[in-house]
Amino acid sequence: MELNEVMRTTFSARAFTGEPLPDETLYRILDNARFACSGANLQGWRVIVVREQEIRRQIASICADTFRYYRAQEIAGEVPFNPITPTEVDPSEAARTDLRYPMLGHFDDVKKVPVVLVITLDLRVVTAFDLNQARIGVISGASIYPFAWNILLGARNEGFGGVLTTFLANGEKEAQSILGLPDHYAIAAMLPLGRPVKQLTKLKRRPVESFTTINRFDGAPFKP
Ligand SMILES: Cc1cc2nc3c(=O)[nH]c(=O)nc-3n(C[C@H](O)[C@H](O)[C@H](O)COP(=O)(O)O)c2cc1C
Repeated sequence: MELNEVMRTTFSARAFTGEPLPDETLYRILDNARFACSGANLQGWRVIVVREQEIRRQIASICADTFRYYRAQEIAGEVPFNPITPTEVDPSEAARTDLRYPMLGHFDDVKKVPVVLVITLDLRVVTAFDLNQARIGVISGASIYPFAWNILLGARNEGFGGVLTTFLANGEKEAQSILGLPDHYAIAAMLPLGRPVKQLTKLKRRPVESFTTINRFDGAPFKP
C-alpha cells in the first residue's frame, strides 16, 4: 500500500474475522515499527505478546471495569478521565453502566482476537522535559506512541488492523503484577490485532486549517 493511503486509512478495528495473524507477519510488523523515533534513541519499549487465556481474561476484566467508568462519565456529559476537569461521577456508577464493548467479552478467544500486544515503556530511559510543569506529563508518551502507531500502520499495510487502547493503564499496578512487569515499566498501550471484519477507508478527521495557525494560537489559519 502507498504511504499516504496507509496514513489516511488506518482506522480503529475492534472486530476481527477468525483469520489468524501469522507470527511471520507480526514479526515483520514489529521489525518495521522498531524504526520509530524515541527520545535520545533510547528505544525504551518492551512488547508482550499475550497468548495465555487466563492472562487475557484478567486483562479484559481490568479494561471492562475502566470502560464502564469511562462510559458513566461520558453519559454524564464529561470528557472522561480528564486532567483539567476532574470527574464528578462516583466510581460506584460504573457498576451500573452497561459494558458496550463486545471485544472484551471474547478477549480470551484467539479466534476472535488473534493477537494482543501490551506495549510498555521503561521509564528509566525517558527524558521528560515537562517534568517540572504543574500539569500532567505528555512528553514521555512521545517516546512510545510513534512506535505503537507504527505497529498499527504496519498492520494496515499488511491488510490487518487493530486499535490503540489505553484503558489497561488505569489498572497499571494489577496489570504489572499479572504480566510480571517491573515497577518502572509503564503500561503505554494495548493493541488487539487481527483481520478487520470491515475495512474502513473514510476516517473522520478535522481539516488542516482548523488546527494550524500562523505565528500565534489566535493567528490566521494556515492554508496553501
Ligand atoms: C491516546 C489514545 C487512547 C485511546 N484509548 C482507547 C481505549 O482505551 N479504548 C479504545 O477502544 N480505543 C481507544 N483509542 C482509539 C480511539 O478511540 C480512536 O483512535 C478514535 O476514536 C478514532 O477512531 P478511527 O481511527 O476509527 O476513526 C485511543 C486512541 C488514542 C490515540
